Amino acid sequence: MSQVEREIETAGGSVGVTVERRGGIAIWTIDRPDRRNALSRSVVREIGRLAREGARDASLRAVIVTGAGDQAFCAGADLKERQGMVEEEVRDFLSLYRVCFRDLDAMPVPVIAAIEGVAFGGGLELALSCDLRIASRTATMGLTETSLGIIPGAGGTQRLAREIGASKVKELVLFARRLTAEEALAYGLVNRLAAPGQRALEAALEWAQPFLEAAPIAIAAALSAIDAASDLPLEEGLSFERACYERTLVSKDRTEALRAFSEKRKPLFRGE
Ligand code: COA
Repeated sequence: MSQVEREIETAGGSVGVTVERRGGIAIWTIDRPDRRNALSRSVVREIGRLAREGARDASLRAVIVTGAGDQAFCAGADLKERQGMVEEEVRDFLSLYRVCFRDLDAMPVPVIAAIEGVAFGGGLELALSCDLRIASRTATMGLTETSLGIIPGAGGTQRLAREIGASKVKELVLFARRLTAEEALAYGLVNRLAAPGQRALEAALEWAQPFLEAAPIAIAAALSAIDAASDLPLEEGLSFERACYERTLVSKDRTEALRAFSEKRKPLFRGE
């Protein structure tokens, strides 16, 4: 068993991440404002653990990932912790990122990054591992790693290139650009901005409300199908979409939606 696998096996308890539940919505807050919510090993490990635990929670309808305070969503890797690491430990850290952010990415419920303040390096990569991103008007973000003599190591070059195309990512990464919220919206880094003066978390909570009444099996199937799109050739992708559709076809939620339509009422989805 590798060190990363051992760490993941023994993960448990919050170290730097607080969890709040508001009905079907979970809010995970990176809570290290004195380090601008930087990603220590324990924070990354905890995010992975919460993602795996959340994936088994049938009552969960959406997750919001955010940062404590108004200065930072997340300032990237914890550079103070990193300073004490030898090369092999950095390699292990990158493997930990990969496993934990993959598990976040694979969650069967929508995961929204609520970006308040800065999201640099690994912080933006964390947001890119979420399904949707909303930022306050004062947020700034970028994949700034080349300014530290490294490159994005938590999926940034791959995930962002799939989202917005290679040439835009080259511009952002090669110049280590720090984008304003308006620029990030124009680049397609975020889906939307909070209203002027509104906090990103508040805007994310409003945005997530429809998920509380949506059909969970359809939402999970849609996420799987869309996530596969950038990895598969079209014919294979279409077959995969068909397999995802099948999960909804045999669900009680589908028959409930048809019944509700004919009875001119709102469907009541139970995730069955
Ligand atoms: N890791 C560890 N600590 C960090 C950090 C990080 N990534 N980013 C900020 N901090 C710490 C600072 O060292 C400082 O601690 P101190 O008070 O003990 O000196 C504290 O957080 C506040 O940071 P400061 O720089 O004083 O605040 P600021 O509001 O002026 O700037 C940032 C905030 C995030 C813009 C700036 O700290 C920064 O550029 N950080 C590095 C971001 C980065 O390059 N991330 C990519 C990593 S791959």
